[in-house]
Amino acid sequence: CGIMGYIGNREAQPILIDGLRKLEYRGYDSAGIAVNDGTKIAIRKAKGRIDILEGLVQHARLHGSIGIGHTRWATHGRPSDANSHPHTDERGKFAIVHNGIIENEQEIRQELIQEGVTFTSETDTEVIAHLLAKHDQGDLIQTVQQVAARLRGAYALAVMSEGEPDKLIAVRFASPLIIGVGEGEKFIGSDIPAILEHTRDVYVMEDGDLAVLTPDSLELYDLETLQPIEREQVRITWDKEQAEKDGFDHYMLKEIHEQPRSLRHTMAGRIDEAKQMVKLPELDLSPETVKGIEKIYIVACGTAYHAGMIGKHVIENLAKIPVEIDVASEFRYRNPLFGQKTLTVVVSQSGETADTLAALREAKRNGSSVLAITNVVGSSIAREADHVMTTKAGPEIAVASTKAYTSQLIAFYLLGIYFAQEKKSMEASDCAALVQELQKLPDQVEKILGHAEEIRQFAISIKEERQMFFLGRGLDYAVSLEGSLKLKEISYIHSEAYPAGELKHGTLALIEEGTRVIALSTQPHLHEKMVSNITEVKARGAVVLGVALEDNVELHRSVDEVCLIPATHPLLAPVLCVIPLQLIAYYTSVSLGNDVDRPRNLAKSVTVE
Ligand code: G6P
Repeated sequence: CGIMGYIGNREAQPILIDGLRKLEYRGYDSAGIAVNDGTKIAIRKAKGRIDILEGLVQHARLHGSIGIGHTRWATHGRPSDANSHPHTDERGKFAIVHNGIIENEQEIRQELIQEGVTFTSETDTEVIAHLLAKHDQGDLIQTVQQVAARLRGAYALAVMSEGEPDKLIAVRFASPLIIGVGEGEKFIGSDIPAILEHTRDVYVMEDGDLAVLTPDSLELYDLETLQPIEREQVRITWDKEQAEKDGFDHYMLKEIHEQPRSLRHTMAGRIDEAKQMVKLPELDLSPETVKGIEKIYIVACGTAYHAGMIGKHVIENLAKIPVEIDVASEFRYRNPLFGQKTLTVVVSQSGETADTLAALREAKRNGSSVLAITNVVGSSIAREADHVMTTKAGPEIAVASTKAYTSQLIAFYLLGIYFAQEKKSMEASDCAALVQELQKLPDQVEKILGHAEEIRQFAISIKEERQMFFLGRGLDYAVSLEGSLKLKEISYIHSEAYPAGELKHGTLALIEEGTRVIALSTQPHLHEKMVSNITEVKARGAVVLGVALEDNVELHRSVDEVCLIPATHPLLAPVLCVIPLQLIAYYTSVSLGNDVDRPRNLAKSVTVE
């Protein structure tokens, strides 16, 4: 989602609308603005693109020089007028816009409902508006601080109050927010493009910062203690296009680097910290239903299909339910056998892929219940499925999918653990240990991203290759398929992923002196087997890069180069070992001068058969 805020001497409305347009790439399910004319706050918001909002305000202009705006990418509640931001309390005294996820939303919502509050939307944001009214002490800064103390999760907020039309408040907690400083005016932006036209002087807020903006002043406080703090003012030198990519050269690289955040968001609110258990309140599945599932089909296309392959391993291992996986375009025409107790899981970033949607309909026609894992709330697949798990990766723009894939993996881990809990197919202590490891993944991904330069060097070394091979066993084979797909779709180098043990049944004939091979080995019970397979290809002249856990010394010795990933539970290793593969594909494509974000012949969303 995108946030924009303005306080100054000019009319706020056109500045807000224009800022939101610049943020439309952040989400376009709905948009809205709130403006205070000095005595009261007026709100205009609507489902759909900014054009619709603009149509609304052209007929009924909002006057005033303090306001906030939002463009939404739905994660909590489908796109609708009511779910659009800004949100307000019952009296309409406060207006807020929010990015992020409030993890204890349900708890607060119940408390407020018991106190007689009427909710008008399904969003988690609305609880914040009502909390502001509840804790209102006549001083906006104090009130915001008290409310923030009640919130768990990730949030970036812009807040204004009818009674204090001289100030805007911004709060940042694990969701980005910047303040722009102009002559007699100040801006809030979730992203630089929103404000770039007006100023290049900004303060980048840090977690736990509260900012108070007036036209002529900016004060920053520690959210917990309200002690004043100092932050350095920085000057942005990016052009418009760079700003949209957060300063990265391509959307793909930006999205690769966003993964620590997208993983955190996908886990947020789905883990009971005290019990170290998974909770999935969005799934309307009783324990009896889960216990009764006899078979699961996972159906998807492309990268989502590769995520599904990991999902199969995870669900079978943890929940002991047999899983079949199919490419959607095959599934829909092969007359699959459905029983009364078959669950079909469809996976789709866009929620619009024609074959996946057709497979969903085929499953429903045959009486199967359908669970969708998708990144787009309100998409066709989300609307037609019986149960929806949203991956909270945010909009993915590069054609080659990266952050959506790793978020889909997180969704499968959560689902597998959840099923295992309901079926008691795992010891509670083993579940808790896995949940703990799961929560370490975002930091571990961050660590791998810190080695991007070494990976870039490797990528440069393979750019002249005509063919590449990816080898792995078990989960590593599934990740190899994704690594190989990434490489071929954006570098156009022919590449094949092979189950390492199957190589000798034909494909080994293609290995010759100097052939480049990437061998994945993150599964302890398969280490020795992998070492033998690596020896086989090396004996035919292959040059091998190993991707392995940092403690796998034996593998290090058997390869020419090695890329290490932090130790984790074997089931979780795919999230980590796909990161170097994404970077290899990216840097190879860059060094070949290809159009990384828009590779030839491919589309982001394939809505025709
Ligand atoms: C296209 C995209 C792929 C994607 C596939 C499935 O081919 O280029 O990146 O994996 O569609 O898309 P979906 O939106 O259903 O996940």
